[in-house]
Amino acid sequence: MSNISELLGSQYPVIQGAMGVICNPELVAAVSEAGGYGLLATAFAEDPQEVRDQVRKTKELTDNPFGANLVVKNPLAAKFAEVLAEEGVGAVTVSGGSPKELTPFLQEQGIKVIVVVPTVDAARGAEAAGADAIVAEGAESGGAQGFGGVSTIVLVPAVVDAVDVPVIAAGGIGDSRGYRAAMALGAQGVQMGTRFIATKECIASGIYKKTLVECGEIGTGVVNLGRFQMRVLRTPLAEKMIKGERGPENIFSPAAIKESWIKGNLEAGILPAGQITGMIHDIISVREVIEEMVG
Ligand SMILES: Cc1cc2nc3c(=O)[nH]c(=O)nc-3n(C[C@H](O)[C@H](O)[C@H](O)COP(=O)(O)O)c2cc1C
Repeated sequence: MSNISELLGSQYPVIQGAMGVICNPELVAAVSEAGGYGLLATAFAEDPQEVRDQVRKTKELTDNPFGANLVVKNPLAAKFAEVLAEEGVGAVTVSGGSPKELTPFLQEQGIKVIVVVPTVDAARGAEAAGADAIVAEGAESGGAQGFGGVSTIVLVPAVVDAVDVPVIAAGGIGDSRGYRAAMALGAQGVQMGTRFIATKECIASGIYKKTLVECGEIGTGVVNLGRFQMRVLRTPLAEKMIKGERGPENIFSPAAIKESWIKGNLEAGILPAGQITGMIHDIISVREVIEEMVG
């Protein structure tokens, strides 16, 4: 058993990364039931009760451990942390900024803190703040990222060399080859987002999954959103944003996210996905993803 499995209490060191409104209790529970570690997202939760409801629903669906993600810049992050502590969640990933503020409270509550970083400096900062483990997330990953643009194959060993805590690789991992590559780079686990969108259990709309499966390795692009950027599928709306013909107005409200990601209205929002689209050609079950990976 790897240190990461021990830390999380999961059978395999395979984490389903937080993914906003599409990592609902059903997806999270399916991952944990298959021996991985599911994560609930809180990024678009409108209030602490919504987070509590999601945790409780997930507990009804699985007895296996699962965790949650807190986004540092979310003004409600500290309130969400209190709910996660009250509900007995075992581990939390902290992303989108310094973990300094949230870490002491979470650890006092017995919660393991795993910090998502895009650079070696941020990894050192996370370790100094007391992180129990680090997710080194390369720029090929789907979703929000900083401006460093460092790839997983460079970032992971650089972070492994820089810190003493266990490192989890994220970004561009989708099958057993990526899993073994991550281990060869010194990681002790992997975190995946994009591969889990193209699963039967994921509530992402049919058009989100179809575009992802068909777009190939050049089907994603990076949209500049001011304080951060985001890797997304190159839909017509994303193309306009990449060319600077459209700003990010009105595409990040919880309503717009649900409308585009779940209902499939491609004019309402952009669809995060990583370059691993180039290796995803089918929609399979969560269990098939995990078993192929660790088998
Ligand atoms: C649709 C989507 C939403 C995401 N939302 C979050 C989030 O709320 N918090 C977070 O820490 N990471 C988020 N991520 C990043 C994932 O958790 C994960 O680290 C990333 O997808 C790994 O790279 P991959 O897509 O190449 O597997 C998101 C990724 C996607 C694709």
